[in-house]
Amino acid sequence: MQILIINGPNLNMLGIREPEIYGRNTYDDLCNFISQSAAELEVKASIFQSNHEGAIVDCIQSAFSVYDGIIINPAAFTHTSVAILDALKAVGLPTVEVHLSDINMREDFRKTSFVSLYCEKCFSGFGFDGYKMALTYLKNRKTG
Ligand code: DQA
Repeated sequence: MQILIINGPNLNMLGIREPEIYGRNTYDDLCNFISQSAAELEVKASIFQSNHEGAIVDCIQSAFSVYDGIIINPAAFTHTSVAILDALKAVGLPTVEVHLSDINMREDFRKTSFVSLYCEKCFSGFGFDGYKMALTYLKNRKTG
């Protein structure tokens, strides 16, 4: 099973950006955590990060007929991007949304998630563990 993990803008600044919200661990720490979790669960994981909406759309499109599922933390694009929602719908893969922080406990504008309209599941507020929960969900998901 091959899973594509997509991280949106400013997640490459983990460890530096707003540590009171996102913690002191770096983006490399997150990538290592995801790779280790995938190895434990015996799934293959590829990780992509971009600060650019179009690059994320391209990445989602390139997953078509290559990956079995997508895990996406669209970061700020969660709350704005119809293009990312449409790309996920176009590709039609099982997709899980992840957020490090609990987007429902923050500013009102973060309560709107466009990708939620397509994603099967959302893990929000579990820090790095949310990615492992998403990998586990996709691995155990019933097909058909
Ligand atoms: C985030 C939450 C978003 O609201 C924010 O814009 C981010 C990160 C999270 O992982 O908690 O950049 O997606």
